[in-house]
Amino acid sequence: MNTVLVTGANKGIGREVARQLAGKGFHVFVGARKREAGRAAAHAIEKNGGKATFLEIDVSDNASVTAAAREFSKSADRLDVLVNNAGILMDGDDAILKISDELLRNTLKTNTLGSLRVTRTFVPLLAKSKAPRVINVSSGGGQLTGGADGWAPAYCISKTALNGVTSQLATALPKFAINSVCPGWVRTEMGGQGATRSVEEGADTIVWLASEAPQKLTGKFLRDRKEIPW
Ligand SMILES: NC(=O)c1ccc[n+]([C@@H]2O[C@H](COP(=O)([O-])OP(=O)(O)OC[C@H]3O[C@@H](n4cnc5c(N)ncnc54)[C@H](OP(=O)(O)O)[C@@H]3O)[C@@H](O)[C@H]2O)c1
Repeated sequence: MNTVLVTGANKGIGREVARQLAGKGFHVFVGARKREAGRAAAHAIEKNGGKATFLEIDVSDNASVTAAAREFSKSADRLDVLVNNAGILMDGDDAILKISDELLRNTLKTNTLGSLRVTRTFVPLLAKSKAPRVINVSSGGGQLTGGADGWAPAYCISKTALNGVTSQLATALPKFAINSVCPGWVRTEMGGQGATRSVEEGADTIVWLASEAPQKLTGKFLRDRKEIPW
């Protein structure tokens, strides 16, 4: 049975990705920093006949990520797919000239370093897969093409940097498929109820990259299953 770890899988896009991949026969590790919510999400998958295991993981914390890898190894001997989905949007309406160092640092710590940290920690387990895949859930807000529009600068910078992480990792790990995805504007706690896409739509390209996309597709930024400019 192929294994997948989805971080931030207790709600939103992550929970939907976990649900869909369980439906495709993956053993899903539901990564969450909140025990109760994480267990509930894993339980919901199991209730529908899928295989799911809750894995406590705070991506911003080294000790938590290391402990999660140790815990993972008790249930599985390899990881086939890692979905770095956990993310935060802390920006208010302040523009780049006003945001605090702390806001920027905290956002980078989760959105950029978190994904890098989890990937590095799980590389030995991913390397045991025949076709390892890493999917970094990024955002069109991090695109440099077309210039910034001034919205949520710390968040956008963290996603631009995450795209850099994707590109670097794809070069460092040539046997892996490592890509960034923009899910579009999705109705979640982060996206808000006015967003244009459902969680099912937001999860689509992530699930496709996890299960069907060609293994040679790597080092790219995608939306709607197509490459988009960085
Ligand atoms: N919604 C959109 O329109 C949109 C657009 C572009 C990109 N994205 C990206 O899509 C991803 C999922 O977003 P979403 O819309 O589903 O947001 P969401 O509903 O707010 O969910 C975010 C998830 O990340 C988790 N998380 C945050 N910090 C974490 C940490 N340090 N360790 C572990 N988990 C952590 C949250 O856990 P808690 O419940 O514990 O907070 C939650 O499970 C994010 O990377 C986001 O940037 C979303």
